[in-house]
Amino acid sequence: MRFNKLIGTAIAAAVASAIALTGCGGDGSSGGKQLVRMSHTQIETHPDHIGLEAFKKYVESKLADKYEITIYPNGTLGANEKVLELIKQGSVQYLVVSTANIESFDKLYSLFSIPYLFTSETAYEKFITDPKTLEALSVNSNADGFVPVAAFTAGTRNFYAKTPIRSVADIAGKKFRVQAGPTNVAMMEAFGGAATPMSFGEVYSALQQSVIDGAENNELALTDQKHGEVTKYFTYDMHQMCPDLLVASKAFLDKLPAEDKQVFTDAAKEAQKAEFAAWHQAVDTAKKTAEGMGVEFITVDVNEFRNKVLPLHQQLLNATPELKPLYDAATAANQAG
Ligand code: GCU
Repeated sequence: MRFNKLIGTAIAAAVASAIALTGCGGDGSSGGKQLVRMSHTQIETHPDHIGLEAFKKYVESKLADKYEITIYPNGTLGANEKVLELIKQGSVQYLVVSTANIESFDKLYSLFSIPYLFTSETAYEKFITDPKTLEALSVNSNADGFVPVAAFTAGTRNFYAKTPIRSVADIAGKKFRVQAGPTNVAMMEAFGGAATPMSFGEVYSALQQSVIDGAENNELALTDQKHGEVTKYFTYDMHQMCPDLLVASKAFLDKLPAEDKQVFTDAAKEAQKAEFAAWHQAVDTAKKTAEGMGVEFITVDVNEFRNKVLPLHQQLLNATPELKPLYDAATAANQAG
């Protein structure tokens, strides 16, 4: 990931010129086959990647003569914010991106940054896999330039730091990396800490150089991104559950013939199934590996953390009233879950 940070832009430029050199149009057509580029920021054993492999396999089992799918892991096409621009243009067709990274494009996605929106992981999973949820999130897709076609779980987000966080008071005055987005900044302030938004790929060196005191994520960040080498305390405060969405370029989808579009729609469902199947095992493995790296997992009184930031719910709804129907649906999932 440090590698990405240094030359990510150069790689993205190289890919752009490769697109030009191979005679592909901006839409990625070449030699009779349409190239489909899928981008994500994780390593190749991560459940997101496994989901995309299932997608590729499915499309190529049905339409190998028409489409060639390439998956770009590790953010090699650039940070998500940059790739979203390529998605809008249609030169990259799919991207796996955290909802937090798209809330600046479309406020509806800030729903998932509301801390303690869900009361259990079961409720969260139920809500994000309900097709009505993606449909409701898609309403602005013409303006956004992208459409969410599958939701991948990314577990629960928790604080981890160089010093132990055993209660909210331990956050005071410390700097935490958060995903870009105003809701995260408001959440950190409510916890009494300072928010430092930055791209995922920049977090390792920021921790190593003590530019930040900690970050927040699921367990896989400790191992896949090696954050457990430089932070030894992971606290299960469970402040957020933000899915990774597989988003498709609207320009790409709109040009697909109806029967091909159906195959791509079904492929997204296959991707979601494969990602979910890989997730819980991946978390168990990451936890064991992180313990081997010397990371201590701390359990806390979650209610103490929740109570500190609950007033944000109403504030965020007041600021973005269009969130209310989705907020109510998420809350209803809590009751059922
Ligand atoms: C998780 C999530 C990514 C996200 C990252 C981050 O790893 O799966 O989509 O980019 O957190 O914190 O930036």
